[in-house]
Amino acid sequence: MIEYAVITGASSGLGKAFAFELAKRKINVVLISLPHEGLPEMATQLMKYSIEVAWYETDLTVHENVRLVTDWINDHFSVSLLINNAGMGGTKRFIEADTDYINRIIQLNVMSTSLITRALVHNLMRQPRAYILNVASMAAFSPMGFKTVYPASKAFIHHFTRGLYQELRDTNVFVSVVNPGPMKTNHDATTRINRQGLFGRLGLLSPEKVAAISIRQLFKRDTMIMLGWGNGISWLLMKVLPIWVRLPLLTKAIEREIKMERCTR
Ligand SMILES: NC(=O)c1ccc[n+]([C@@H]2O[C@H](COP(=O)([O-])OP(=O)(O)OC[C@H]3O[C@@H](n4cnc5c(N)ncnc54)[C@H](OP(=O)(O)O)[C@@H]3O)[C@@H](O)[C@H]2O)c1
Repeated sequence: MIEYAVITGASSGLGKAFAFELAKRKINVVLISLPHEGLPEMATQLMKYSIEVAWYETDLTVHENVRLVTDWINDHFSVSLLINNAGMGGTKRFIEADTDYINRIIQLNVMSTSLITRALVHNLMRQPRAYILNVASMAAFSPMGFKTVYPASKAFIHHFTRGLYQELRDTNVFVSVVNPGPMKTNHDATTRINRQGLFGRLGLLSPEKVAAISIRQLFKRDTMIMLGWGNGISWLLMKVLPIWVRLPLLTKAIEREIKMERCTR
């Protein structure tokens, strides 16, 4: 049976870059994203690489949808690579954020990543060799005000992945986490990065570059993928700066973004 890579959040940004990177390597893909965001058109482009492409449009913040899509995958495909890429976040004052927004971040980043992995892990274990790549963020390495829930959810993904790596290390499933820094993947992300000044641009890479390095390192069995020297410096700073220096510093940089947004209204 032919093998597939499953990519969540595949219609744009980093997920789309992953799909094209895998297509160039002649790996068949199953694309998952929200409805009406161009997955069929993207599938047509990917088929030009002479690979098999399937897609499924759904909202992964809903538990029942996660069950339905993973049942569909298990019924139809042999999965040798799972990329949990779909994720959302943003910059908001916690006291002003509505509860639906907070819940969607938690459901997409935390619930869907862990439950999709759980639902597909036996499928992955049936393949001769298989990989799981979870997309966390540099934000996983420190809490920060005005983002609050997002870095906490990415810390979850980071720790979840490291634990699972250890648990599955004697199986055929290799588990890895990538921690991207800033990427100008969409209008919101681009505006946020520009407003954060120099801090926001430290470690900036294109999604295509991030996807290419991540897949290369995944297949080299790198279990914690860091991207470029800029992110290396950020990581080092977050390790050496004590929390009482780091937390107010990062929070101030993020607050600057909120203040600039207020000025442009
Ligand atoms: N951009 C950055 O600076 C940055 C930095 C570090 C880490 N990351 C992480 O990298 C990953 C990709 O980010 P990105 O910037 O490429 O994001 P993006 O451009 O917003 O793309 C996110 C993808 O996830 C899909 N998605 C969003 N909500 C979904 C839902 N409820 N159900 C199913 N699919 C959903 C989107 O589908 P639609 O197109 O249909 O909305 C899109 O395909 C995320 O996990 C993010 O946290 C990003």
